[in-house]
Amino acid sequence: MTQTTTRTIKGETVPVLGLGTFGLTGPEGENAIRSAIDLGYRQIDTAIRYGNETEVGRAIRASGLPRSELFVTCKIWFDDLAPDMVARRTGESLDRLGFDFVDLLLIHWPSSDTPMGETLAAFAEERAKGRTRLIGVSNFTCALLDEALDVHKADLFCNQVEYHPFLSQAKVLAKMRRWGMLLNAYQPIARGKVFDSEVLNAIGRQYAKSPAQVALRWLIQQENVGAIPRSSRPENLRANIDVFDFELTPAEMAAVHGLASGRRFSDFDWAPAWDEPMPSHEGGRP
Ligand SMILES: NC(=O)c1ccc[n+]([C@@H]2O[C@H](COP(=O)([O-])OP(=O)(O)OC[C@H]3O[C@@H](n4cnc5c(N)ncnc54)[C@H](OP(=O)(O)O)[C@@H]3O)[C@@H](O)[C@H]2O)c1
Repeated sequence: MTQTTTRTIKGETVPVLGLGTFGLTGPEGENAIRSAIDLGYRQIDTAIRYGNETEVGRAIRASGLPRSELFVTCKIWFDDLAPDMVARRTGESLDRLGFDFVDLLLIHWPSSDTPMGETLAAFAEERAKGRTRLIGVSNFTCALLDEALDVHKADLFCNQVEYHPFLSQAKVLAKMRRWGMLLNAYQPIARGKVFDSEVLNAIGRQYAKSPAQVALRWLIQQENVGAIPRSSRPENLRANIDVFDFELTPAEMAAVHGLASGRRFSDFDWAPAWDEPMPSHEGGRP
């Protein structure tokens, strides 16, 4: 198999592994983001809600890399999805980042207050203005994707959802593959809980890899899937992208799929009605 660190989605090249930045704030956070870039991360995931866009922008500039080498994602919170707020929040984000554009602008969570069509039109407007190259969503279920894609004909690059060995995303992934979208997996190492899994430890021992590395490998070995692990420590940042020199067998992939138990770490009262976890070992392969 050809090892690759990028994926082509809708003709765009995106690094399969990115840096999650929730909690990476202040000088320490900025240092961690800078370390990650030095170690080779080229996709950075931020959000207005994380309060660290200034740090992300500064870390990228301090790296000395051209802006074009980084893939930067930002997200707008669900209570700011009215069209005038989308425009205002996007401008404020770009000011904090210190950039003219982001690569990907996401609806952070669906809103039950603002009609989806209005928000998607406002996002498309930001793309037309060149303030984002691509648009997408986060925490969208199959029903919400149907509305966005079938009813509103949105051209979505990505749906960022919680995805790790303890939570199946087979249904939503199958739909996204049909539309050629990227599923970017957040909380890909289940906030560190992967270390408690004997299955992941046993597989890791075969390759001298940690359970976190096995979980990340399992994710990026699936078509249309990327992942954005977060770490504040250089040793963990380094380990999390050291996953391109081994390959899980079909039996090992199936064993990791078999760990899905519907366990979620991001479930809030504003969350949509989630799709039922489906105990498929195929991840909804088309
Ligand atoms: N769209 C959304 O609604 C949404 C929701 C949640 C998260 N996200 C995004 O997804 C990113 C990742 O999620 P997350 O940060 O909650 O969870 P995560 O990446 O699954 O786990 C992060 C935790 O694992 C530890 N860790 C990381 N690498 C490790 C390693 N190699 N060995 C041991 N421990 C390790 C980190 O601690 P150390 O810092 O000590 O390494 C941290 O406590 C976020 O930062 C954010 O960008 C998006």
